[in-house]
Amino acid sequence: MSVRIAPSLLSADFARLADEIAMCEAGGADWIHVDVMDGRFVPNLTFGAKVIETVRRLTDLPLDVHLMVVEPENYFEDFVAAGASGLTIHTEVAPHLLRQLSRIKELGARAGAVINPGTPLSAVQEVAVELDLLLIMSVNPGFGGQQFIPGSVGKIRRARRLLAETGSRALLQVDGGISRETINACWRAGADTFVAGNAIFSAADPEAEIGVLRAQCMESA
Ligand code: DX5
Ligand code: ZN
Repeated sequence: MSVRIAPSLLSADFARLADEIAMCEAGGADWIHVDVMDGRFVPNLTFGAKVIETVRRLTDLPLDVHLMVVEPENYFEDFVAAGASGLTIHTEVAPHLLRQLSRIKELGARAGAVINPGTPLSAVQEVAVELDLLLIMSVNPGFGGQQFIPGSVGKIRRARRLLAETGSRALLQVDGGISRETINACWRAGADTFVAGNAIFSAADPEAEIGVLRAQCMESA
C-alpha cells in the first residue's frame, strides 16, 4: 500500500510561503493540505480562494483542500477554479452529502468526506462507494498542534473495514496530531494518507521529517 504525506500549511510560516512549499517538495511530500476555516463550523478563520490560487502558483503538487465551513457548496466552484485538486467536506454540515459529492466530481476534483471525532462512521456508510477519500479527524478540528485522540486508531480500523465491505476504493486519510509517535499505529490500522502540520513545520529538520514520517509507516511495530 502506498503512503501519501500531506503537510498542512496551517503550521507553515506564511512570511516564507514559497520557501515552505519548496521545502515540502524537496522533502517528497505527495500533496499539500490546505485548511479552510470559516469561524462558524470551527472557532478559527484561515484562508479562501485567493490563498489557494497563490499556493497553486507555487507548486504542481495536488492541493488537498479541507473545508471546515458551513454550506461548503458555496465554495466548490471558486476553489476548484483557484486550483484545488480535491475538496473534502464535513458530514456534520452536509445534509445533501451525495449531491454535494457529485458536484465536486462534476467540477473535476477528488471528492472527500470527513467526520469529526464525535461523529460515528455510519455518517458515511451510504456514500462510501462514491468517495474518492474518507478523512477521519483525530483531533477536534480548528487548530494545529493538538494532541492525537488515541481512540482514532480503532476508528481507522473500522473505517478500513467499511471501505472493504462497501467495495469503496476511497483513500483513507487521517488528520490531527500525526507525528513520528502516532503515524505508525494509524498506518497499521489501515490509513494510507496522512496530514501533518506541527510535526513537520516545527521539526528541527522539516524537510527530513517528511521522510521520517513515511519511513515510520513501513515499520512493522
Ligand atoms: C485541524 C486541521 C489540521 C491541522 C493539523 O483542524 O484540519 O489539518 O493543520 O495539524 P497538526 O498536524 O499540527 O495536528
Ligand atoms: Zn485539515
